[in-house]
Amino acid sequence: MARPSDTYVCQSCGAVYSKWAGRCEACGEWNTIELEASESGPPGSLSGGGGGGSKSKAKKLDFTSLAGEAKEAPRLLTGNNEFDRACGGGLVPGSALLIGGDPGVGKSTLLLQIASGLAKGGSSVAYISGEEATAQIRLRAKRLGVEDTPVNLASATSLRDILASLKTEKPDAVIIDSIQTLWSDALPAAPGTVTQVRACAQELVRFAKSTGAILLLVGHVTKDGQIAGPRVVEHMVDAVMYFESEQGRDFRILRAVKNRFGAAHEIGVFEMAGDGLREVANPSELFLTGGDASVSGAAVFAGIEGTRPVLIEIQALVSPSSLAAPRRAVVGWDGARLSMLLAVLDARAGLDFGRHDVFLNVAGGLRIAEPAADLAAAAALCSSLFDAPLPRDRVVFGEVALSGAVRPVNQTEARLKEAKKLGFSGALAPAGAQSGTLKVVEAETLADLVQWARSA
Ligand code: TYD
Ligand code: MG
Repeated sequence: MARPSDTYVCQSCGAVYSKWAGRCEACGEWNTIELEASESGPPGSLSGGGGGGSKSKAKKLDFTSLAGEAKEAPRLLTGNNEFDRACGGGLVPGSALLIGGDPGVGKSTLLLQIASGLAKGGSSVAYISGEEATAQIRLRAKRLGVEDTPVNLASATSLRDILASLKTEKPDAVIIDSIQTLWSDALPAAPGTVTQVRACAQELVRFAKSTGAILLLVGHVTKDGQIAGPRVVEHMVDAVMYFESEQGRDFRILRAVKNRFGAAHEIGVFEMAGDGLREVANPSELFLTGGDASVSGAAVFAGIEGTRPVLIEIQALVSPSSLAAPRRAVVGWDGARLSMLLAVLDARAGLDFGRHDVFLNVAGGLRIAEPAADLAAAAALCSSLFDAPLPRDRVVFGEVALSGAVRPVNQTEARLKEAKKLGFSGALAPAGAQSGTLKVVEAETLADLVQWARSA
């Protein structure tokens, strides 16, 4: 019989229900809803306040004005430039960070390197693993060449033990690998359940806020890209980063998807080598193939990832199709965006993609989300359709509207500067992008693009 205090929690998305159901309405998963203890705070809550909190007398708030003393949050640098950049310029004391990623992508490796970087800088660091034995971590440290840095290492999963030790050790930074392995004995739920993950994360975040320690949590990602026990942790922490890799490639991207102390969508780029993760200071080199100049269908997009300009090659292959519904396949870009672009090219520029199979690929395995890539994708498509190679020393950027107009995009100057730095001599860009940096051919509409691609 369900008691009024019982709650049922979806183990996949964290949605809470008052009674059991076979299917979660929030995420659509079957058989993920399980009975868990009441939300009103377990009696033995480790925070000490516990269930008795409701009895204490309410205190009047001390309202204050917006104007007044406000300090910029100080930053602690880890010495790893790509990591510091992705965090928005270093770590903020008292903040909590969640780092998600697929198993094997290199989260433990990255965090061990960060731990050693912080320790080298004079901070006290606790690295607590619930997944690996200390001997295993020592082996990795040796491989990374950081075994001599003064990191406090422990293998533990009990939240009670961990908090008790942290309260006496008072480290400047705490790394938990991973949050899904922790469990609090105050809760009846099994480790890894949403209830446990939420409760453990909450206690650790509270510890970080009250002591000013930096908290780095590792989280596993489920196959659909959610951090398991997901949204519940994401909204508790100050920053959420994903560590991503493309199948079969050595480089890794640390992407900030939420950051209270910096720009979201900032990225750090790394390369996995035999001795750990190396920083890639100039990612454009990764995403430019420098391929054969006589091959059609390739355009270089001058993009912005986070706050950093990055040049990326976009490749297209357009070939006559015998299918009634020709194939469209896209890697690294939005499929709906490609359909839209093809429709605009058909309707506004009089091109005939309707009887062609179209494939589009972003080189290097990067995923582009910027609308500014429209014009570069269109350039690659036209180049392949006309079988006319584009000049290899030009970059392209601009957003394409449904009317066929090319719209201006932000950070034009930064894009052009990066192109110049990497030896490009010109750009095809929206009207008004003219600057002293690089020779710009202005495209006002898709007709200008088509003319440029034909004459190139
Ligand atoms: P790991 O950090 O254990 O991944 P995660 O914690 O995200 O599960 O890294 C696992 C992979 O990284 C493993 O396949 C081996 C590889 N690796 C290297 O290539 N070089 C290295 O120096 C290290 C430590 C790992
Ligand atoms: Mg790991």
